[in-house]
Amino acid sequence: MVILGIESSCDETAASVISAEEGGVMKVHSNIVSSQISIHALYGGVVPEIASRAHCEAITNVVRKAMENAPAPDAIAVTFAPGLIGCLLVGVSFAKSLASALGLPLIPIDHIKAHVAAAHLENVFSVDSYNALVVSGGHTSIYRVDRDIDFTEIGSTRDDACGEAFDKVGRVLGLPYPGGAAMDRLAQKAFEKFGSDPKGYIPFPSPAVGDDDCFDYSFSGLKTAVINHVNNEKQRKRTDVLSEDEILRIAGSFTRTVCAGVVTKLDAAMKANPSEILVLAGGVAANSHLRKAVSELCESRKVRLITPSIPLCGDNGAMVASAGYYSFRAGIIADSSLNAFASDEGSKAYLDQIRQKRDSRS
Ligand code: KG4
Ligand code: ZN
Repeated sequence: MVILGIESSCDETAASVISAEEGGVMKVHSNIVSSQISIHALYGGVVPEIASRAHCEAITNVVRKAMENAPAPDAIAVTFAPGLIGCLLVGVSFAKSLASALGLPLIPIDHIKAHVAAAHLENVFSVDSYNALVVSGGHTSIYRVDRDIDFTEIGSTRDDACGEAFDKVGRVLGLPYPGGAAMDRLAQKAFEKFGSDPKGYIPFPSPAVGDDDCFDYSFSGLKTAVINHVNNEKQRKRTDVLSEDEILRIAGSFTRTVCAGVVTKLDAAMKANPSEILVLAGGVAANSHLRKAVSELCESRKVRLITPSIPLCGDNGAMVASAGYYSFRAGIIADSSLNAFASDEGSKAYLDQIRQKRDSRS
């Protein structure tokens, strides 16, 4: 089956054509991503109206390029939730029109589930259920995933997402938006310079919160502690600029704290919900230190870790197409009334309606 996936939930306009078969390796025929980062960097974050307009300008060419040298699709999958509503509406409206013009089924996709489905693009695995950690700019949650499409959240952030914390700390350290990837490189330098002795690092509060049987995170206390530390240092030294060593130490300390905290709750969640497989996905899954920490945890628990390669961790159309394959198999097909939803509540109700209609037909 050939699926065209369309993504426009935040600041990347993306489209991809993939082929998928039962038990076989997925093939990515095209994967076009048009990033708006250079536009939003001027403002230090995503400006929703500018983002919607940029999607509107880019989407026709992005989809055309993705379809150019790829086989004709049998279905179109599109991200319909969660995300910035104006951005989602561009992708949904475009996908609806194209599906109608080509007479193809339209598959509504949840962005978070698509991040997890990216794990299938380069790995063949088929188990009834597995655990997944999604760490992105907008979400940080641990899920139990059944049959690749039913997600039960077993832990999540109570406030900021992990990627948001990386970006905000990057910003106070003077890095351009989004700071995540640059923070990764700074932390690497810090670990090379200051070594592994915890005494070399600043003790920031852990994002792991609650009792042992709670698998939640909170990144806002950690973010505030880093910002306060930066302000105090500047005041104490009567300067507006931190030294290179101080920047490195802060980036290293923040990254250590994030990795240790994420692993603490993930370990507890995996212990309470045993599974052969853990999927690590989302934009922050590209972080080399987090990948290493989660990989060590999985090794110690004898769990197979599946994480997309770096280019497939960030937002892309191939992950939407992959999720589309599993949703299509499960009979999740939208009609022409498909709408976009900024949050999960509306999209869950919509998917429930589709399931009810599907079940009443069978
Ligand atoms: O999944 P994604 O592309 O978009 C959302 O769904 O939010 O994630 C984007 C986030 C940004 O916060 C970005 O800074 C972060 O992923 N990110 C990273 C790295 N690469 C991207 N964070 C830490 N280390 C990285 N190497
Ligand atoms: Zn994303």
